[in-house]
Amino acid sequence: MLVLGLETSCDETGVALFDSERGLLADALFSQIDLHRVYGGVVPELASRDHVKRMLPLIRQVLDEAQCQASNIDALAYTAGPGLVGALLVGASCAQALAFAWGVPAVGVHHMEGHLLAPMLEEQPPQFPFVALLVSGGHTQLVRVDGIGQYQLLGESLDDAAGEAFDKTAKLMGLNYPGGPEIAKLAEQGAPGRFVFPRPMTDRPGLDFSFSGLKTFALNTWQQCRDSDGDLDQARRDIALAFQQAVVETLTIKCKRALKQTGLNNLVIAGGVSANKALRESLERMLAEMRGQVFYARPQFCTDNGAMIAYAGCQRLLAGQHEDLAIKVQARWPMESLPAI
Ligand SMILES: Nc1ncnc2c1ncn2[C@@H]1O[C@H](COP(=O)(O)OP(=O)(O)OP(=O)(O)O)[C@@H](O)[C@H]1O
Ligand SMILES: [Mg+2]
Repeated sequence: MLVLGLETSCDETGVALFDSERGLLADALFSQIDLHRVYGGVVPELASRDHVKRMLPLIRQVLDEAQCQASNIDALAYTAGPGLVGALLVGASCAQALAFAWGVPAVGVHHMEGHLLAPMLEEQPPQFPFVALLVSGGHTQLVRVDGIGQYQLLGESLDDAAGEAFDKTAKLMGLNYPGGPEIAKLAEQGAPGRFVFPRPMTDRPGLDFSFSGLKTFALNTWQQCRDSDGDLDQARRDIALAFQQAVVETLTIKCKRALKQTGLNNLVIAGGVSANKALRESLERMLAEMRGQVFYARPQFCTDNGAMIAYAGCQRLLAGQHEDLAIKVQARWPMESLPAI
């Protein structure tokens, strides 16, 4: 089955062609980062308008790249939520219009299920069951995964998502958006031990997270540095390192707890923050001790992309699921409400 996948939940227009027999045939992405950078975050109205501009050229691009005719496409998959409603509507309308015109089915995909399944596109995909750590700009969740659509939420952030905390900490030090890669880069030159940030909610049982306090801690530390005569560039590096270490260690502690609680020893990490090298290394060390394995996608499939939507949609279409012609999207959508396949 050849599926054209469209992703438009936030500030990336992603389009990909996935074939159930041949795998991923083409993948294209337009990131709106430059458009939103001056505002220090995503402006929903600008995001929607830009998706409208980019969608059809990107679809043409992937069809050309895969040397594929529209008539070969068996189905459409699009992100139906969670995300920005205006942005989601662009992908949903486009997918439904093409599906109607081409006489093929369309399926709405849950964005976080897309992230969760992205490591399945790699050479050594994880086997069910596993624990998944979803760490993105909008989500921090630990999920027990027994199969596609068989999700049990084990814990989640009570306030900011991990990626959001990276972005806000970067912003308060005057760094560019998105902050995750900026902080990761600066942290490489940070002096270990100059600052020590708390590991929120690790001193009590449970699998929930709270990252908003770290951002306040970073703000106070940054203000103290600005009030003193020190080197502010070095202060940025040292804060970046201390902040990243705190996030990484907190996530590692909670992942270990989730694995112990479920008795599983395979961990999947997905979402933008799963591209973080320090996080990958820390989890790999922990899993090596537990004689388990950690799985993640290549960096460009950690952040938003069309490939994960085409893949997830294809699995649901193969199981016989698809939508009617109504264009429905959801800003909020609990992943546990998805049907199993
Ligand atoms: N190397 C990195 N280290 C830490 N964070 C990173 C890194 N690369 C990207 N990020 C963070 O990942 C986030 C973007 O990831 P993603 O595209 O998955 O999130 P989103 O789509 O905005 O949110 P959601 O998927 O929850 O709707 C940003 O917060 C960004 O700062
Ligand atoms: Mg995302």
